[in-house]
This record gives sequence, C-alpha cells and structure tokens, in this order.
Amino acid sequence: MPKDNNTFYITTPIYYPSSDLHIGHTYTTVAADALTRFKKLQGFDTYFLTGTDEHGLKIQKAAEEANLEPQEFVNDKVNSIKKLWELMNIDYDQFIRTTNEDHIKTIQSIFEKLYEQGDIYKGKYEGHYCTPCESFWTESQLIDGKCPDCGREVTTASEEAYFFRMSKYADQLIKYIEDHPDFIQPEARKNEMINNFLKPGLQDLCVSRTSFNWGVPVTFDDKHVVYVWMDALPNYISALGYLNNKEDLMDKFWPADIHLVGKDIVRFHTIYWPIFLMALGLPLPEKVYGHGWILIQGGKMSKSFGNVIDPNELAQKYGVDALRYHILSDMKAGADGNYSEELLVKKINTDLANDLGNLLSRTVAMTVKYFNGVIPNDRESQEIDNELINMTEKLPESVASKMDEVDLSGALEDIWKLVNRANKYIDETEPWKLGKQNKEKRLAAVLYNLTEVLRFLGVLLVPFIPESATQLLDQLEVPEEKRTWESIQKFGNYPNNLKVKRYPALFPRIELKEEKIKEKEKNSKKSSEKKESYITIEDFSKVDLKVGKIKEAVKHPKADKLLILQIDLGDHTRQIVSGIAQYYKPEELVDKSVIVCTNLKPIKLRGEESNGMILAAQDGDNLSLITVDNDLNPGSQVS
Ligand code: MSP
Repeated sequence: MPKDNNTFYITTPIYYPSSDLHIGHTYTTVAADALTRFKKLQGFDTYFLTGTDEHGLKIQKAAEEANLEPQEFVNDKVNSIKKLWELMNIDYDQFIRTTNEDHIKTIQSIFEKLYEQGDIYKGKYEGHYCTPCESFWTESQLIDGKCPDCGREVTTASEEAYFFRMSKYADQLIKYIEDHPDFIQPEARKNEMINNFLKPGLQDLCVSRTSFNWGVPVTFDDKHVVYVWMDALPNYISALGYLNNKEDLMDKFWPADIHLVGKDIVRFHTIYWPIFLMALGLPLPEKVYGHGWILIQGGKMSKSFGNVIDPNELAQKYGVDALRYHILSDMKAGADGNYSEELLVKKINTDLANDLGNLLSRTVAMTVKYFNGVIPNDRESQEIDNELINMTEKLPESVASKMDEVDLSGALEDIWKLVNRANKYIDETEPWKLGKQNKEKRLAAVLYNLTEVLRFLGVLLVPFIPESATQLLDQLEVPEEKRTWESIQKFGNYPNNLKVKRYPALFPRIELKEEKIKEKEKNSKKSSEKKESYITIEDFSKVDLKVGKIKEAVKHPKADKLLILQIDLGDHTRQIVSGIAQYYKPEELVDKSVIVCTNLKPIKLRGEESNGMILAAQDGDNLSLITVDNDLNPGSQVS
C-alpha cells in the first residue's frame, strides 16, 4: 500500500553512547524536533525517531575501561542521553536502541534474507581498518596513509568475513540519484557522493566481524557479529516493525520523509543504506539531508581537544529555548556553524530579549496601561497598517517553504523580519502619544494589530522555542483553537474581549561574566581613585539636586542612544537630553519621578539643548534611574 502523503517520518542518526553527547549532537536532534513540531502544526501525522547505536568495538572497549559489562555501560549512557533530550524538550515518538530484542530480530532476519538471495557471501577481508571509526578503507581512500574521516592511524586487518555485493547495485543507485534530484541534499553533498564514491566504483562491503563479540550474532554462523553499518542503518525500519514482532508501522510511515544526518555520515546514508533497501525490495527515503557541523573557533569539537561543550550546562545556565534558538539560527542551511558563549549571549540579548521580548512586553504593558488589558472592539484602521498585515499573512507560507528545504535558520530569519517590522510599527504609530491624545480608537487598532502579529509569531515559534512561545501565547490568552495552522492563514483571528496579562520578561537580558568582572574592576578602581580626594559639605552643596517628573520622552531624531525629556520641576519645565535610550523605551519613562541636577551648565547634544542632568546608577549592562520612594512634588529639594 502506498504511504499516505499526510504522514511525516523523520529520523536522527542513532548516537554512539560511548561518551557524553555534546552540543554538536544536540543540533541534529533539536533540528529534527523543530521540523517535526512544525509538520505537526501543519496537520501532518508525524513520527519522530531517535535512539542509540550500541554495538561495536568502540563501545566494548569503553565498557572495559569503565569496568562494566557492555550492556550495563550502555544502559547508563542511554539514561543520560534520554535525560538530555527531556531537558531539551525533544518530543520524539520512539527511542530505538540497537540492543532491543526487536531490533536484533530485524537485523538477523535481514542478514538471513540477503544471504539466501545471494547478496551476502562469505570471504576474507584484507584491508585498512580504523578502530575508532569502525571503518575499513581501501588504499586509495586513505589520506597520507591515515583514516580519511578522523586522521588517525589505521591497522592492516585480515579476517574471515561476510560481504555485501555493493557493486551489483551501483548503476541502479546512480540512476536513482540522477532521477531524484531531492534525494541527497544539499546539492554539494550529492555531487561529492557521485564523483568521489560512486563513479570511481564501489567495493563490496564487509558486513560481519569475528574479532569482537559485542554485536548482533549472525544466526547461521555465530562466531560472526554483524558489522556496524548493517546493524545501525536498518534501525530506521526495525523501529517500524520490519521483520520483527512489533506493531507494523511500515505501511503507514515508510519510506522516511527525511533522514537528518551530519555531513560525516552522508556517505553511509546515501550509498550503503539505499543499496540495502534496494536489495530488500523496499522504497528509498525521500530525502537524506546532510547538515554541517558546529565548530569551536573554526575547529572540531572533541574530547581529546578538551573543547567539548556540554549542552546540559548551557541549557541550565541560559535556558533551553535560548540554546535551541542559538543553535538553530546560527547554523546556516547545510553549512558549518560556530559556537561561542559570547555569540549565544549576544543572540539572547538582541534577538530574544530586545527584539521579541520587548515587542511583547511593550504591547502588553500598553494594553494594560491604556485599556486595563482588554483591547476595545471599536477600532480605527489606517493605510499604514496594511504593510504590517500583508507581511504577517505571508509569513506562514514562507516559513513553511524554508522548513521544507530544511533551512531552519532561514525560517527564523523570516520570522525575525516580522518581529523587527512590528517594532518599527510601534515607532511609527507612537501609541503612547495616541494614549495621551485620547485617540482611543486608533490606539485600539494599533494594539490589536501588534497583538495579532504576536499571535502569528507565537504560533510559528512554538516548534523552535516551545516553552517561551507557549508562554507568549498564554500571556495573550490565545485560546487553543487560535494556536493552529488554519488560524494563522488570515489576519484578524485574535478574539475580541480577551484580557492580556503582564508576565516577567520572556528572556531577561544576560551579562557576560567576563564583561561584568571587567566592569567591576573598572568601577572599584575608579572608586578607590576617588577615595583619595574628599569633598567638603560646601563642595557638595554646590550641586543643586531636585525631584523632577518626566512629562514627555521622545527619541532624539539624530542619535540612537539619546532621549529628549521634558521634565516638570514644580515651577517650570525644562528639556534634558539623556543617554538612556538603550535602557528605557520613551513610553516607560512618562510620569516617573527622577533626581535632576539642575545647575549643570546647559549644552547642546546633537543639536538639542540639554538643561541639566538626570541621575542614574549603572552596573555593567544594567542601568537604573534614581527615583523617589514617596510621591514627592516636582521641585522638592534633594539634600
Ligand atoms: N552511530 C552513528 C550513526 C548511525 S546512524 C544509522 C554515529 N554516531 S555519532 O554519535 O558519532 O554521531 C551522531 C551524529 O552527530 C552524526 O550525524 C554526526 O554528524 C553528528 N555530530 C557529531 N559532531 C557534530 C558537531 N560538532 N556538529 C554537528 N553534528 C555533529 O555517527
């Protein structure tokens, strides 16, 4: 029966549980999770498979070193991998383990079947073997006599082994790849496979070993265990019940829609795997997508370099969604990406805290301030709204097509274009002015549009940052039926009469530790320098400090960092230009009582007169205005 095209089956590689997983491994699983959640949102019947590849010499050795039986060793590691996926909010449907009875049954049945039909035969293997990679290499594949994958020494190995007749299927595979341009993605990886591996001719593949025993035994020759790729790759069908006793999900989900894999294992997934499937008479997966690697300062992450980044630590320190967002947005489609903590913090502070977080908090704060949380139904639209509305309505389709191309960072870029457009819309419509001018109908329209944009953003962001996006939708009280794909096909589905709530910041700003330390050092140096030069009370009294109430605040037209404030000092109002635009939005300042130094010599700042100074305290990236506890009258003297 052909597979129903409303299903979506996605897999990650099964991970070696030999050492702890790092942030690079996390990328594949988070990306697969986001893709699955997105397809689910679109109404697909999804199935997401991940798991562990538990056999082989490398695991056997690691277990010996840890003084444990291999099974005990892998059980332990698998538990911590499952915990990591739970922490990262990975919503998989099945976690397959190659030590599961059902999987073992599948592998043994496949091996028998292929042997009986003559695709597997017994021979003798003589070749170069890389133990850490568990790969045999031909002379011409070695680079400087070393393993082409990891660069380590290889050994010459010779042993009785079973072989799979790869060469028999090579032409059929080349034709298949040429007829199905989407099968191997991105394009560059396809060319690499054809030119470097298929065209030079395929060697028969060694599919069993006798030199170790931690593997699936060959049923009819039990000194052999199945060699690792023939054990690992069929996990994608053993999980669906192929030739075992599990529930048969093959008809429903096979062929897979996408095998998401790292670039290093594209070869195994686009040559060995399709050939095994051809031999079994099964259809081939729709797509194998080879993504790039997360690098550290441009280089490989590895235990031996001591530069492995632990995703557990980062998620606990910065939050799961911040980490998910960082790895998904900074890995450009198909290319390698760089990880650095500094980059992660910058992303949190700009994209998440400033752009998205502020858009939400400003919209909610103004709705609460002007309408007690409920946007009135009587609203006045204007021409200027149309661009924002059109852009919002087009977003779901453009994100969907990026997701179909496995371009997750491109999808996020599109989403952020709307975030930024909406922030600009606030600057253009100046809702705080509308509030003061009692233009209620217009203000209601502006806030409704912003809230509706946020609903679209929330629904589209759930697959990427599930917890925060859900919190965003909760804050706007969006009901379940308005969190669906259908509900974001048209602008204006945000229901009337809902009451929005103020929550703590979605993504609080983060200060980089080193910067904080440097800043503290600078401040303590400054204060110790100051200690040596005391001032007298007369000196202090020269400074005239008064309480002032901010009546108006606008952005300086020529300087991003400056705000122009009109401050009521009791007997008069004066203009002060202050460099606090990075820390406060103009509308947050109105009605605040601050401390003003009134006898500072007036100056012009970028063409605007500044007559005095307001006091603020700063701690690194954090700035706070000095305000007064009690509601003192403007003009009250500070002494
Ligand atoms: N067990 C095999 C896969 C068998 S699939 C039938 C394997 N396991 S692995 O644990 O070594 O790697 C799993 C995945 O992690 C691979 O797709 C690999 O490319 C990916 N990554 C390992 N390091 C990575 C980065 N630094 N960055 C991104 N992905 C990385 O291979």
